[in-house]
Amino acid sequence: MNIINDKNIFIAQAKSLLSDENNLVANLSNLSALYKSYLPDTNWVGFYLVDDEKNNLVLGPFQGNVACVRIPFDKGVCGHCYTTKKFTYVPDVHKFSGHIACDSSTNSELVVPIIKNNNVIALLDIDSISFDRFSKEEISTIVNITNEVFSNLEFNI
Ligand code: SME
Repeated sequence: MNIINDKNIFIAQAKSLLSDENNLVANLSNLSALYKSYLPDTNWVGFYLVDDEKNNLVLGPFQGNVACVRIPFDKGVCGHCYTTKKFTYVPDVHKFSGHIACDSSTNSELVVPIIKNNNVIALLDIDSISFDRFSKEEISTIVNITNEVFSNLEFNI
């Protein structure tokens, strides 16, 4: 599977997975597996959820090795994405000041914000052991897919 060429199949599969279920854990679990299956050469794909009560990001469903449970809003690649409300692509995480190394084998990382009513409510985080893993076209495709899939998902944290 290739996220660029198979974009429409991905969206159809995602919508089908989400259509009859509104349990957040179940839906994000399946979505993390779906993204991972369309993104070869990734070692960690999953979600961080905004915890407004504790004022930080909390680990959500993912595929990969164990990861940091809580990330401050202003720390790491995830914090940068949360703060700027824009996708953050880091081709070499070792050159990103403040990168949080949950999995020391990661070399590049893409984080995409999930926005509802102008608020970031969650982040999609994708890590690769390859440097500069994502092309501009692939990033744009992932951002567009994520916007479309989440615009249809009831999302109550
Ligand atoms: N590297 C991230 C932390 C999350 S892990 O990659 C799963 C960061 O710097 O925010």
